[in-house]
Amino acid sequence: MKLTSEEKKMAEGKYGNAVKKSMEILIALGEIYGAEKLVDVTSVQIAGVSYDNLGDAGLDYLDELAKDGKVRVLTTLNPAGMDLENYKALGIPEDFAVKQKKVIEAFAKMGVVTTCTCTPYLVGNDPHFNEHIAWSESSAVAYANSVLGARTNREGGPSALASALTGKTPLYGMQLDEAREAKVKVKVKCKLDGTHEFGALGKAIGEKVKAKPTLIVGIKEATVDELKSFSASIATYGGAAIFHMKGITPGKTKTPKEEIVITREDIDKAIKEMNMDGEIDFISVGCPHASLAEIAKLAELLKGKKVKKEFWITTARPTKRIADQVGYSKIIEDAGAKFAADTCCVVAPIKGRFKCLATDSAKGCYYAYSKNQSKIKIMPVKKLVEEACK
Ligand code: F3S
Repeated sequence: MKLTSEEKKMAEGKYGNAVKKSMEILIALGEIYGAEKLVDVTSVQIAGVSYDNLGDAGLDYLDELAKDGKVRVLTTLNPAGMDLENYKALGIPEDFAVKQKKVIEAFAKMGVVTTCTCTPYLVGNDPHFNEHIAWSESSAVAYANSVLGARTNREGGPSALASALTGKTPLYGMQLDEAREAKVKVKVKCKLDGTHEFGALGKAIGEKVKAKPTLIVGIKEATVDELKSFSASIATYGGAAIFHMKGITPGKTKTPKEEIVITREDIDKAIKEMNMDGEIDFISVGCPHASLAEIAKLAELLKGKKVKKEFWITTARPTKRIADQVGYSKIIEDAGAKFAADTCCVVAPIKGRFKCLATDSAKGCYYAYSKNQSKIKIMPVKKLVEEACK
């Protein structure tokens, strides 16, 4: 890989140990994937923030880099293992909390903006069309490539951190036009409504075409919340890093020859597969993290009611702060639902606490079942609130 003289100095250790180690990671990655050179990035999002995933070895690695490492571009984090302010009410053990705080402190020492969210694009880490970036969280990667039109591979936690500390990423894969071209056309022949149905669409397409980039036609409109649900789902069930939705997303692509059709039966089948027998004891909204619009809707639905089941709304702390300011949080909390800010029910250590999760998120269903061995049910948000109040 060709390096500039500045990049050579970085690799030789002239800018300290953290930069040197980071360059080793980026050069190794670039060589594996045949990148000709590094490019500058403008934004980073780092996954692998939960102490549940990192363990002590991960924490030691972060402490080592934090001795002399400082981020060079705007960098935010993926959800942590707990809400740093509200973890006691959410039943997170104190020994876990101590370790999780140390993880966040190490990132803060490096200059990372320690808001922990899978929707960085809703809280100011919002790159625009064609910018090279290095993001890790799969739903955010699909959203960034497809809806924002920025360019990112699906980075691992260490490679994203390496990009943050150097401001560079190897030029390969989703950073280049070729890999972004659609390989399969998907004709959607039914009307979709709501985050749960867009999640079901992502499952139906993902399972059929796997990670191939798609050109999706036939969808007349989609909200930001529906697109984030779809991005999460197509990345989870298929591994896709990009899709093109005709008339809705900004990128250009040729029309592929291979074509599949998605009908109402496919959506209903996907929804049926995410509805298991079981008595709901946990309800969660906000996978990917809830937007202000979703929180406003929840406040409207929960006004004057009382929930009778554990009910979490997972969101980014800055979004929660606005919800506090305009009064949505009070309505929601008066109804007995709880905010879990900067965390989510997949990365939080809650395995075994609940038997059956109800959510509007297809991605949430996948991980609740596969990681936490919980039964699952998917339904629209309005129905979730009705279930919660039964
Ligand atoms: Fe975000 Fe957690 Fe869902 S990271 S996409 S809320 S599984």
